Amino acid sequence: MLIGMSAAGTLSPYIEFKDVCKAFGDRVVLQDVSFDVLPGEMVCILGRSGVGKSVALHNIMGFLKPDSGRVIVAGQDITGYNEAQLEGIRKKVTMVFQNGALFDSLTVGENVAFPLREKRELSEEQIFQVVDGLLEMVGVKEMRELLPSDLSTGMKRSVAIARALSAQPECVLYDEPTTMVDPLMGNLLGDLIARLKLQLHLTSVVVTHDMRLAKKLADRIVFLHEGRVIFFGPYKDMENSTEPIIREFLELDELKLEA
Ligand SMILES: Nc1ncnc2c1ncn2[C@@H]1O[C@H](COP(=O)(O)OP(=O)(O)OP(=O)(O)O)[C@@H](O)[C@H]1O
Ligand SMILES: [Mg+2]
Repeated sequence: MLIGMSAAGTLSPYIEFKDVCKAFGDRVVLQDVSFDVLPGEMVCILGRSGVGKSVALHNIMGFLKPDSGRVIVAGQDITGYNEAQLEGIRKKVTMVFQNGALFDSLTVGENVAFPLREKRELSEEQIFQVVDGLLEMVGVKEMRELLPSDLSTGMKRSVAIARALSAQPECVLYDEPTTMVDPLMGNLLGDLIARLKLQLHLTSVVVTHDMRLAKKLADRIVFLHEGRVIFFGPYKDMENSTEPIIREFLELDELKLEA
């Protein structure tokens, strides 16, 4: 039997939210949120600012715990995991943060080498080669000796993606990979994310409010609104949704295209 296949022969999810609830004080952010991500699949989480998209990703990493419900990651129920157990999960799943979260005092090359050094499996020579390959893959090879402060937002994001990949993950979570960059750079980053999924067979979750990015990337979409999943399925099906907020997202995007 193949890993990831259930007895019935269907693919079992790599990530699954089962009725997840999460509140901060009185503010209920996620309410009975359920969706799943299959191995090798790309799922985009859409929704308005503040709806809980980043909170959902933080639950996958185990930075936050649900108040109720279960979170399955890499086929394991991580809901009750302690930090030591989560460390094993974080070797398989890495996150590209909304702000990049690079180490300011390390060069681009040192940033990307960081997860490799932590593993203590490779020689310095091997690390040099791997970092070279990763920087080339994301298109910032010439930036190796620069500091993050020397880079544009888009380049920083590319470096953050390279650093996430250097941990050789099975799954990458991207938080708003195309915000605050120009449309061309946004397009390049979108292409890069699509290419990495295919080349490295990555399972991917992309949080965004960029409808065009979601259309280009997503196998399936989770649309969050007022704490709930109001749509879960392929983009094509979402285009037929009658939910007012989804119509607004779709129509605003059409206006942007005409402008
Ligand atoms: N650690 C925390 N403590 C208290 N409240 C939090 C915490 N993390 C998130 N929140 C709240 O949860 C809500 C959802 O936040 P979240 O960052 O997930 O939104 P988002 O959908 O990612 O928005 P954006 O698109 O602007 O990034 C917000 O009201 C936020 O203030
Ligand atoms: Mg966010």
